[in-house]
Amino acid sequence: MNHKQALKHHIFKIISHSAEELQLDCYVIGGFVRDYLLERGDAKDIDVVAVGSGIELAQQVSKNLETNPKVQIFKTYGTAMLRYDDIEVEFVGARKESYHENSRNPIVENGTLQDDQNRRDFTINALALSLNTSNFGELLDPFNGIKDLDKGIIRTPLDPDITYSDDPLRMMRAIRFATQLNFKIEEQSLKAITDNKDRIKIITKERIVTELNKILESDKPSIGFKLLEKTGLLDFILPELTALKGIDEVEGQRHKDNFYHTLEVVDNICETTDNLWLRWAALLHDIGKAPTKKFSKKVGWTFHAHEFVGSKMVYKLFKRLKMPLNDKMKFVQKMVLMSSRPIVLASDVTDSAVRRLVFDAGEHVDDLMTLCEADITTKNPKKFKKYHNNFKLVRDKIVEVEERDRVRNFQPPVSGEEIMKAFNLKPSKEIGIIKEAIKEAILEGDIPNEHEAAYQLMIKKGKKLGLTVAV
Ligand code: CTP
Repeated sequence: MNHKQALKHHIFKIISHSAEELQLDCYVIGGFVRDYLLERGDAKDIDVVAVGSGIELAQQVSKNLETNPKVQIFKTYGTAMLRYDDIEVEFVGARKESYHENSRNPIVENGTLQDDQNRRDFTINALALSLNTSNFGELLDPFNGIKDLDKGIIRTPLDPDITYSDDPLRMMRAIRFATQLNFKIEEQSLKAITDNKDRIKIITKERIVTELNKILESDKPSIGFKLLEKTGLLDFILPELTALKGIDEVEGQRHKDNFYHTLEVVDNICETTDNLWLRWAALLHDIGKAPTKKFSKKVGWTFHAHEFVGSKMVYKLFKRLKMPLNDKMKFVQKMVLMSSRPIVLASDVTDSAVRRLVFDAGEHVDDLMTLCEADITTKNPKKFKKYHNNFKLVRDKIVEVEERDRVRNFQPPVSGEEIMKAFNLKPSKEIGIIKEAIKEAILEGDIPNEHEAAYQLMIKKGKKLGLTVAV
């Protein structure tokens, strides 16, 4: 079957023509072909393999394009890249790798298309479309990748032990593709991943996190996390999560398996938000439960202050994985820290408690509610409905209280300067005390969030502190 229609974009004609000028063969390969056959929309990353110099081909293409885009050359890898419209094209020369019997270091030599396809990660990523005029659009598929695409199978072209130990990141990629595409990893591959799991140590944290993010950005991340757990990779990457596994029983009292609960929460939240960091918060919201777990005869299982402990762990985890230690991390910490607050509220929705929640969560109060709703994993339909209804009440109350009291981005209605002026004060601790009293009175609902009421309270509180009014 010919797939010319995949190659309608102007760029392919130019590449084809340029290759002809240089008298070399070239092919589109990898993700672009896979995603086209899966009808996943037009990929913007195009990988071109040249039987010859990829760099020279890139330069020729640039010459022939009316925009003459800059060619970025990566000498060490023998690759080149250029941008055209919103498309990024990467050129690489076909390679063949062979191993000396007594050395694990590969010798990279120029090879044929088939040599190059052999060293790719999965059969579904080794599919190539010809860009040569003689057979433009022809699919070259030596490993029957099209059948694996059809059946939903992740399989390596070569012995999986070789493919994974060549590049251990592929273990993560296999799991990531299985998650994104809802594919099965073929049995031999899964075994090879399990056998080679500790080789993941040689992969940089950044590349691991890229794959983790792609798993979390999928529709159903639990597929990936279950595979990471099953193969043993998760122990190396996120031991905080595997520590949540298991159900303990003492004197007939059991707690839930917090690992599988967490995965349900993550899947749930993916139905309502695309925010990657909120998804991370769902993944990490219970990590404090492992170190805080205790059993006592009186109250059974407890996880005292697990939200606080968990939020501290978030920092260490982000640091270890070389993730950004910026406002995104702080957001995740805040969500973990506050993850139980609305639950306590749901049974007794008072105005003052809602005001405090909105005050503390600030602009993230909606995200917090989304997290708490995703946290409802009960299999009892009556309870499920009841909990959701309770949170609906909390959400309604948040809107009502916010309209009236505007505490979401709280600005003190009386400023420090006003207090200093009123009592003829220099900067001193009394100002802080008065400001705190005003904030507390507003949150408690003793006074409205208005200047006049706050001013009166300031006078009262100042007098109590022994201050005299200046004017
Ligand atoms: N590849 C590989 N081994 C890797 C990474 C990539 O064999 N560790 C090959 C695969 O053939 C892959 C191609 O290089 O299809 C391009 O890699 P990349 O752009 O990282 O991934 P895509 O398959 O394009 O998929 P995605 O864009 O979803 O990451």
